[in-house]
Amino acid sequence: MQRALSQIEDAAPDRPNGHGLTRDAAPNVIRLLVVDDNEDDYTLTKVLLEHGARSVYQVDWAESFEAGFRMLTHEAYDAALIDHLLPPRSGAELVRLLGGRLFHTPLILFSGADDPAIDEEASEAGVFDFLQKDDLTPRILDRTIRFARQAHRLEHELRAALAEARDANHAKSRFLAAMSHELRTPLNSIIGFAELIKDEVTGPHGEPRQVEYAGDILSSGQHLLALINDILDLSKIEANKFTINHVPVNLYGILRSCLRLVMPQAQQTELDIRLDFQKDMPVLWGDERAVKQMVGNLLSNSVKFTPPGGTVTVRACAVSPSEIAIAVEDTGPGIPVDQIGRLLQPFEQLEEQIELARQGTGLGLPLVKGLADLHHGRLDIRSEPGHGTTVTIYLPVGHGQPPAAGRLALDVPTNLC
Ligand SMILES: Nc1ncnc2c1ncn2[C@@H]1O[C@H](COP(=O)(O)OP(=O)(O)O)[C@@H](O)[C@H]1O
Ligand SMILES: [Mg+2]
Repeated sequence: MQRALSQIEDAAPDRPNGHGLTRDAAPNVIRLLVVDDNEDDYTLTKVLLEHGARSVYQVDWAESFEAGFRMLTHEAYDAALIDHLLPPRSGAELVRLLGGRLFHTPLILFSGADDPAIDEEASEAGVFDFLQKDDLTPRILDRTIRFARQAHRLEHELRAALAEARDANHAKSRFLAAMSHELRTPLNSIIGFAELIKDEVTGPHGEPRQVEYAGDILSSGQHLLALINDILDLSKIEANKFTINHVPVNLYGILRSCLRLVMPQAQQTELDIRLDFQKDMPVLWGDERAVKQMVGNLLSNSVKFTPPGGTVTVRACAVSPSEIAIAVEDTGPGIPVDQIGRLLQPFEQLEEQIELARQGTGLGLPLVKGLADLHHGRLDIRSEPGHGTTVTIYLPVGHGQPPAAGRLALDVPTNLC
């Protein structure tokens, strides 16, 4: 730092120094706080900046950790230069206490020691730069402060934009959740009455087409209800309103009932449906309805997209004592690898399968992913066009797991494939 003082002579001498100016009086003045227990270091920094830098500075001093904290939290500074050694505490500790990069003032640490460990600690604590006292020149200081302020401003703008986007997304989800809820009540009446008319509960219809039309109203209503339920679930997940009830899950029972649901469709297209359930599975603690929904969505995709004569296999096994996998594997058309990410977004479908995809709306996979995330699990999609698709849900077995093999899986036959 001593060396740097000699360079001050090169700096423009007739530029006013910013000392004593308030922000209101001179908005271009950069207010800097130096937090350093060594007054000489503060004085040298002040002289370097007030006489040698291109920008106009007003440099204030905080002589201790506590004074630094107080001044930075009570006054508006444009940047702060904090010494690493502030006995008995440290500059990095002060940075952490202030909130690091989230603090309203960009913080820069400086140290007399040439130690990369301090540099690393400083960046972990959340500084915008780290300087060594021996290297200080008016240019380096001025430039570092300028860059730190720019980076800080940009980061804060990005954080604000992100928060705004998240708020907007939550507002959308809340709106969708409310709308879906309102739509469900009248829709349930439409479905109920359509069923009564179709089944001729109030007496036979003279005109047979009425039964057919009532059947159309019923199936359209059920389709719409399924769509609304999916939107409601997805918007609840996005709004962090989906509650997971962790209970011991009868996984074998769930898989069997999901298979039963798709069986009529699978028989129509002559699909071979298999279940491979590992013996002595650990008990999964999760949300029964959510697990059923995940498996049901994957199975309905495989059954829908696999051409006649193909095979759909559901496998469940433990991948470790604390994690299970449920995989739905098919011999269908497959998904191009570069499309997988997109299909996890709501309302996305593959152009190639648009005829079949019309039966759905593109909410199945995003829901599976959202529900797996809520269980702290993950989704893995492996596929190759022409060679089928395997979608695997990995789920932690969860809390409260009994030590022995699952009591709920006791009714599972030993050989299922
Ligand atoms: N097993 C599969 N085989 C081939 N394509 C699939 C499979 N599963 C999903 N897809 C593709 O991903 C899209 C999105 O799936 P999904 O989110 O469940 O929506 P939906 O079934 O309503 O179309 C499907 O429309 C289809 O194009
Ligand atoms: Mg689907």
